[in-house]
Amino acid sequence: MPAPASYNKVVPKVTFLNIGRTVEFKSGELPYHEHGKPESILDVALHFGIQLEHACGGSCACTTCHVHMKTGAEVNLSPMEEDELDRVETAGDLTLESRLGCQAVVTGDVVLDMPAWNRNYVSEGGGSMNLGDAIPAAKK
Ligand code: FES
Repeated sequence: MPAPASYNKVVPKVTFLNIGRTVEFKSGELPYHEHGKPESILDVALHFGIQLEHACGGSCACTTCHVHMKTGAEVNLSPMEEDELDRVETAGDLTLESRLGCQAVVTGDVVLDMPAWNRNYVSEGGGSMNLGDAIPAAKK
């Protein structure tokens, strides 16, 4: 008996270290919520009720979705495109592990952490803000 079509799909696990939570989804089957690229870290986070700031709505115009990748980024995330590279370079707390959650599409298991604070460079408004403790706790 052949396996159902969805049986062989990749099921990436995304671990958010800052809240100690791992979620998983079937590639190609995550309902798209129009925040960032489909199946991006931001899309996955919001789908599972995990708060990840996204001041520009996921259009690569701020850095509030900035995350630090711990494992899996090299092979299990979409490559960084030029617009993401230009934008992420303006992020506070920039590291070699930095990605924008709305632009990095998950294709396999990844582990990430969210910076405790972030700076907002929304093109329209400019300025910066320290989100710090203003970031609400994740929904469980
Ligand atoms: S949400 Fe603004 S760049 Fe990702």
